[in-house]
Amino acid sequence: MSESTTSASALLVSKGLVFLSRDSKRGSLVPKESAELLLSFIRTLTHKPHYGKHLTFPPYRFMVRTLVNLAYPGMILNYALRKRVIEAATVEHLQNGARQVVVIGAGFDTLTLRLSRQFPNARFFEIDKPETQSAKRSAVLATSLQAPIEFVPADLSVSKLQDVLTNHPRFDKNAVSIFILEGVSMYLSEATIADLFRQIQQLSAKGSLFAFTFMDDRGRDRLLSRLWQKRHERMEGFAMTPERMSAFVKLFGMEQRSLHLFQEMQKPYVSTKEWELLMRTRGEHVCIAERTA
Ligand SMILES: C[S@@+](CC[C@H](N)C(=O)[O-])C[C@H]1O[C@@H](n2cnc3c(N)ncnc32)[C@H](O)[C@@H]1O
Repeated sequence: MSESTTSASALLVSKGLVFLSRDSKRGSLVPKESAELLLSFIRTLTHKPHYGKHLTFPPYRFMVRTLVNLAYPGMILNYALRKRVIEAATVEHLQNGARQVVVIGAGFDTLTLRLSRQFPNARFFEIDKPETQSAKRSAVLATSLQAPIEFVPADLSVSKLQDVLTNHPRFDKNAVSIFILEGVSMYLSEATIADLFRQIQQLSAKGSLFAFTFMDDRGRDRLLSRLWQKRHERMEGFAMTPERMSAFVKLFGMEQRSLHLFQEMQKPYVSTKEWELLMRTRGEHVCIAERTA
């Protein structure tokens, strides 16, 4: 599988997290096993078996930090922080008896790979476009990892989540589940997202959780970010003002349980100068909602 057919944004997230894991102050925000797996995936996917040696080279780190500040300040830290929020909610829900985890647009995320060993009685599903998922499967196979994940290839702008999951022999729509949509909604149209939320309502038992991220609809992406998107994947889909999210999820029988704002999540980890930059950035927030009706 060539790198060009897989999701560039999923690879960017992986590279960002591995970069962050080498940071002396904030590196521990990326779980060690996750950083190791992601490094191994990147090496397989890019056919660069020695990828990683440059990551501690100070001029390289300075260059990346400068580029990120020009394109999307807080981007890499946000990857780690949104994942921490989602992982904590998932672990708590599984400890409270949830039996299924469905990750939509999973990219090269390592959550299911790690949690499926910790929670052997739960079922884990990953859905992504066929090319990206097939690349991930090859990358997982190249490690010695044994993880009982149900990989379900589907392009959700063409196929319906409901068809894809209800046709799957191991999926149980009566089970208390957690659905995860992380770093994906901005690539899907508002109509597709509304339809997806409706389907998740149909596919989950009461008490199920839905953890998702969404872009703020205020502000504009910076020029460098727009140029990157033009070349790779455009974030022109769903976006919303966070204050409206609670009412939005109610339309789909859900109650907002918590909202984690882009800037607030980063506050404990950034300097005053970085904070000022974040306040001028169109951020990506995390919402945890519960299916109540
Ligand atoms: C930015 S990556 C995020 C990956 C992962 N969720 C994470 O946060 O690390 C976006 C992911 O969404 C997937 N995606 C985008 N549009 C999709 C669609 N129409 N159907 C299924 N997956 C999609 C991409 O293939 C990619 O893996």
